[in-house]
Amino acid sequence: MTATKNILITGGAGFIGSHVVRLFVNKYPDYHIINLDKLTYAGNLANLKDIEDKPNYTFVKADICDYDKMLELIREYEVGGIIHLAAESHVDRSIKDPFTFARTNVMGTLSLLEAARQNWNGDYEGKRFYHISTDEVYGTLEFDGTFFTETTSYDPHSPYSASKAGSDHFVRAYHDTYGLPTIVTNCSNNYGPYQFPEKLIPLFINNIRKEKPLPVYGKGENVRDWLYVVDHARAIDLIFHEGKLADTYNIGGFNEWKNIDLIKVIIKTVDKLLGNPEGTSEKLITYVTDRAGHDLRYAIDSTKLKNELGWEPSLQFEEGIEKTVQWYLDNQEWMDQITSGDYEKYYEMMYKER
Ligand code: NAD
Ligand code: DAU
Repeated sequence: MTATKNILITGGAGFIGSHVVRLFVNKYPDYHIINLDKLTYAGNLANLKDIEDKPNYTFVKADICDYDKMLELIREYEVGGIIHLAAESHVDRSIKDPFTFARTNVMGTLSLLEAARQNWNGDYEGKRFYHISTDEVYGTLEFDGTFFTETTSYDPHSPYSASKAGSDHFVRAYHDTYGLPTIVTNCSNNYGPYQFPEKLIPLFINNIRKEKPLPVYGKGENVRDWLYVVDHARAIDLIFHEGKLADTYNIGGFNEWKNIDLIKVIIKTVDKLLGNPEGTSEKLITYVTDRAGHDLRYAIDSTKLKNELGWEPSLQFEEGIEKTVQWYLDNQEWMDQITSGDYEKYYEMMYKER
């Protein structure tokens, strides 16, 4: 692929986006990486401290829904490649505030697609619009050993997954209607450093450290398929450069965990690293009202990505989870900065409602 080397990464101050920005800035010194982020509650420039002064990196604070701004930025930086991660990403928030999810995830993606189309104006040589999506668009699975594949029909159940499904459809429609050079990938649950502590793994690590309750939704029997975030970033790099245009790839590590079993691994690992006797924090487990519309099981089949592009996860889960717990324990200042103030109030309110 001969994409121009000016790459716009949206949502680069968030969890996955910051890992993608870091990887591209360090690995491709001859690229110019433009990180566009609105800096919502989930965006944090502290996630990128180590690369912020690199000469091939620029940060722009903007909202993807601002179509005129998207037009201007793509023109100004002569953007040839777009890796689109900006989104509202938390299912529980989408249940409380679906409009924000439709606005950012659907209208924001459309605004970016149209701005790319207008700027590229049919000259698609070397161009690429890569949209990062989720396995949640496929709906839910039973405990029957089946997997989501690239041809599984969409069946979203939450306002979050419905909005991501809408954005995926727009991306594919822009290829089919206007020939825009698009790619979509659907990934399973990510974990690792810099994840906002409203999501299960960082929330529970932080609550154990503070000896606060661990709110397990329902019976804790739902299953998620976990992938270390750096492996997702590696897959994005590979697919951006070598993936087939107009195609879809599923990304996942064949690593399913029932929530309650995963929670016990987190407890064991945190207790071990804090020097507590094994099992100390199990008393914090608190079963609470289930999430509305809670999908039972996700499981991604990423065989196509392995067979066509040779991607495989690099980390075993046991190693990844220990590294992750250690990172959160070593970076308490990062966590405390996020969880103070408004977020603390939001969390207490959400917790009381369950
Ligand atoms: P995140 O919530 O940590 O980060 C989202 C980023 O987008 C933040 O920096 C935020 O400031 C920015 N943003 C939000 N609205 C914006 C707007 N209107 N304009 C510009 N920037 C805006 O999310 P994440 O977990 O890093 O997820 C990134 C992407 O990957 C999302 O598209 C998500 O759907 C997808 N995804 C996430 C997972 C996962 O497990 N976290 C798995 C598969 C796919
Ligand atoms: O599958 C990919 C998706 O994974 C991404 O598209 C989303 O952006 C990302 O947020 C994630 O969605 P989940 O809803 O699966 O992640 P979350 O960490 O919120 O929850 C994981 C599981 O843990 C889920 O079954 C709900 C449960 N849970 C979550 C929280 C926050 C609890 O039991 N208690 C909790 O407090």
